[in-house]
Amino acid sequence: MLKKIITQDGSFSLYDSNLNETYHSKKGALTESLHVYISEGLDYWIKENAISGSCKIFEMGFGTGLNAVLSKRFSEANKIKVFYTSIEKFPLSFEEIKMIKPKDLSENENQIFNSSWNKIVQISTFFKIHKIHDDFFNITYKHSFDIIFYDAFAFHAQPMMWSEDALKISIDLLKKNGVWVSYCSKGEVRRIIQRLGLLVERIPGPPGKREILRAIKN
Ligand SMILES: C[S@@+](CC[C@H](N)C(=O)[O-])C[C@H]1O[C@@H](n2cnc3c(N)ncnc32)[C@H](O)[C@@H]1O
Repeated sequence: MLKKIITQDGSFSLYDSNLNETYHSKKGALTESLHVYISEGLDYWIKENAISGSCKIFEMGFGTGLNAVLSKRFSEANKIKVFYTSIEKFPLSFEEIKMIKPKDLSENENQIFNSSWNKIVQISTFFKIHKIHDDFFNITYKHSFDIIFYDAFAFHAQPMMWSEDALKISIDLLKKNGVWVSYCSKGEVRRIIQRLGLLVERIPGPPGKREILRAIKN
């Protein structure tokens, strides 16, 4: 069963009682997403690839859509074209989304939630989204994305998402020089990613999390 929670920065998230796991950090869902995925993922990639005016992101786990909304806002503020692909095996219902979506959504941001699955939808001049309703383990395509937001449930709740097989699928999706980023800081995960040939950094995390992982594909 899913239950709405209010995290410490006032933003909303969900608690899944079957997994005994939240969708975001209880210390602040918005703060966590902005720090891990927007600052240390998207903004980092843009700074390293200043000549490119566009960027392709793949998110593992659309969940509440928070990372998608924040990426859309970033794309407009920085005038960068973002094509955002996100996969979700268990899409939330409209009622669940209504409970926890940010209160300050613009009309086109609402489209991120209302648009159909498995269709590419142009949300604004700078932001296009493809929400895929499928199991991440069914992915077969490769070398397509500049950035991976690896936002699976934590290791203790869904260990298979952090197995070598799963992490390899995500890394195979990356183009050369692409950036893989996650809130996870587990040593075992870091070592798998290193074994898969990426250059892994441990970087400071959001409140309540000393470190997170970012990796670059050579
Ligand atoms: C930590 S939550 C994602 C949070 C999300 N990025 C957000 O901003 O709200 C993890 C998500 O992964 C999804 N998930 C779990 N296993 C999956 C699988 N095998 N394939 C695709 N999605 C999966 C879950 O349903 C859940 O929505």
